[in-house]
Amino acid sequence: MKAYFITGTDTGVGKTAITAGIAGSMRKVGVNVGVMKPIATGMQQKTGFKSADVSIIVEASGTNDSEALINPVFLPIPVSPYDATKLLSLPIDMSLILASFTKLISLHDILLVEGIGGIMTPITKNFFVADMIKVMGIEAIIVTRSTLGTLNHTVMTCHLCNQYGIKVRGLVINNFDEKGSNAEKNAPATLHEITGCDILGVVPFIKDYNRIDKMIEMVSKKVDIKSLIP
Ligand SMILES: Nc1ncnc2c1ncn2[C@@H]1O[C@H](COP(=O)(O)OP(=O)(O)OP(=O)(O)O)[C@@H](O)[C@H]1O
Ligand SMILES: [Mg+2]
Repeated sequence: MKAYFITGTDTGVGKTAITAGIAGSMRKVGVNVGVMKPIATGMQQKTGFKSADVSIIVEASGTNDSEALINPVFLPIPVSPYDATKLLSLPIDMSLILASFTKLISLHDILLVEGIGGIMTPITKNFFVADMIKVMGIEAIIVTRSTLGTLNHTVMTCHLCNQYGIKVRGLVINNFDEKGSNAEKNAPATLHEITGCDILGVVPFIKDYNRIDKMIEMVSKKVDIKSLIP
């Protein structure tokens, strides 16, 4: 039983895409992999799972777990969890989240937990995603951009993980363009040099990305999946 918390340097960096890619790659090599999105906010889908992220990671992993376990908290408004609780007057039940997490861990060899936003995204006024990772007691994988600005965001994220005592298993640099700027080409080496974190993989921007199997195939090739399987 092993779990990783997939966080990112920001919203929209590719946490769902990379979680799906890792889940699908593990599944292909016979790992019983589970997925979780403890808190999702945003527009509710008209059919299927409430959260679009949940649909993607469930499809990739092939899990049959219930939506209540995978996504115990869904707040139908596209803001941070804390703002959603204020706007909707609905508190977030952390004990429910932790009970679902404990159950899912017991059902799978590996559990991938997709965060929300970045590590300092507020769940309450003084309880952040980083606090949730800490309470879960699991290692973090940080999905980063490859473009200019990623050094600042990634170094800050790693620094805060250290301060919180969260072990960073490694970085996945996403949307990489090998023909990009010098800043982009240098990002993998410089991020490793400054943060000391393993670079688990550098995942290119996939043109015409419309099917999850394209991401799974790419992640299988570009991310060191074996090193994540105990
Ligand atoms: N390597 C890639 N190539 C092409 N498109 C990508 C790649 N990675 C992510 N995307 C696309 O970028 C968008 C943002 O990615 P994704 O939803 O995975 O980000 P996220 O960090 O999970 O965002 P959120 O904070 O909303 O959960 C999506 O439309 C996704 O399909
Ligand atoms: Mg997502």
